[in-house]
Amino acid sequence: MNDILPNISPGRLIIVAYRLPFKVVRRDDDSLAIVQNSGGLVSAVLSLARNAHYAYFDPGEKVHWIGATDTSFPLADQSILETDEFIAHPVVIDEQLHENYYEGFCNNLIWPLCHYFPSLARFKDEYFEAYQLAHDFFFARVAEVIRPGDVVWVHDYQLMLLPAMIRERFPQQKIGFFFHIPFPSFELFRLLPVVWRKAVVDGILGADLIGFHTNDYVEYFLKTAWLVSGHNNKLHYIHMDDRMVKVDSFPISIDFEMFSNAYSDPETVSKRNEIRKSLPLKIIFSVDRLDYSKGIIHRLRGFREFLTRCPAWHERVSLVMVVVPSRDTIQQYQQMKFEIDQTVGMINSEFGSLGWQPVIYQYRSMTFAELLGMYTTSDVALVTPVRDGMNLVSKEYVASRADGKGVLILSEMAGAAAELGEALIINPLDLHNVANAISAALDMPEEEQIKRMTLMRERIREYDVFAWAVDFFTQMTMLEMEQTRLNQT
Ligand code: G6P
Repeated sequence: MNDILPNISPGRLIIVAYRLPFKVVRRDDDSLAIVQNSGGLVSAVLSLARNAHYAYFDPGEKVHWIGATDTSFPLADQSILETDEFIAHPVVIDEQLHENYYEGFCNNLIWPLCHYFPSLARFKDEYFEAYQLAHDFFFARVAEVIRPGDVVWVHDYQLMLLPAMIRERFPQQKIGFFFHIPFPSFELFRLLPVVWRKAVVDGILGADLIGFHTNDYVEYFLKTAWLVSGHNNKLHYIHMDDRMVKVDSFPISIDFEMFSNAYSDPETVSKRNEIRKSLPLKIIFSVDRLDYSKGIIHRLRGFREFLTRCPAWHERVSLVMVVVPSRDTIQQYQQMKFEIDQTVGMINSEFGSLGWQPVIYQYRSMTFAELLGMYTTSDVALVTPVRDGMNLVSKEYVASRADGKGVLILSEMAGAAAELGEALIINPLDLHNVANAISAALDMPEEEQIKRMTLMRERIREYDVFAWAVDFFTQMTMLEMEQTRLNQT
């Protein structure tokens, strides 16, 4: 038991997120198997659950995870739903509802608004209706699972109404909420219809602790809560009628040691040798999910500007750009893929030669070993989102460089820029700025690379994804103790 928290008895941890922590796959012999997701949230939650030392949760209990799925999920097979660490509670959302809820409200409205693309936002009544209806399904699952003393941790923009729904039925429950994308300035948020924006803000305020990646997002949310719902704050505490809500920043991170230790894995070493042999040039690397917020077109334009200005680098450097397929049922994503294909083709035909391809572009996902091979071989990582809640690629690149070498070029529009000030910070919309940074990165002396990389590595080592989760729950617990003290006075 944690000695600073003597009076708090641990319950179970219930995660509610749009995605379940694993996928079900069918093997060649037709049997089913599960493949655990490798994302930061899953590793953080696992480490919290395994590490009984913190005593936030009952160590004898598995983590309950409520997430969406479609009708093809093998619901009847209970053994599939339970692993050594998780008990999954799938929320079945049929195709029509899913289209208006996930593709519609979540990704055709909230996503573009929060990423400062208001012209891409679509406002349809059926989207909001579906968003509410999908929440009823999630809530029904929560109500089935929940017990007094449990902590419910709700995640992201797909579930913003849920904290208030849980609060209403279970007023004493401990509820956390974490927002994984940028929370925009009020001028963007106010574009939402009046009833919708109030429902969203009141929904989030149902939680005890509300987390964002950066102080800016916290400030934007606090201002929005005041202007939309009339809830003022004092030093990030909002006093509701019968309880206190805290809003704070918790910059999500990665499993630093996993990336750093992988530097000398035989598999990484062999990938590195393979890459070096097939590409004996300087390498600039980028990898993202296909998304207009990632600034992929801006990156290509910046690279083109660099090639135009620096002919001395022709035949001596290639941009290896991997784009991971994502949300390809949404029209804007398909359109963007087409634009990327075209722009890459244009650059290669303009500058390339028989023996040199300036942009090596791949549209596919990468295995961990391939990713590590690329991270640890690349001279430069080029990370250019026009808006990004955090951006974990930049942190992964830094963590992977156990040799201390390599240069990170990072957009000031990524949440990560607040922590990685030793990167070459750029404005991705400014082509000259990007071109100059590429040239400076390629010319940077090794000594300076190591100096910058060492400082960034230390920072990420200290506040890794486990520290992030522990920080969140330490604050949850402190808040509960404070609330108990106030109730007694
Ligand atoms: C972002 C969001 C997540 C989302 C992920 C992938 O990181 O914050 O909630 O799951 O993108 O997007 P997808 O639509 O594939 O779930």
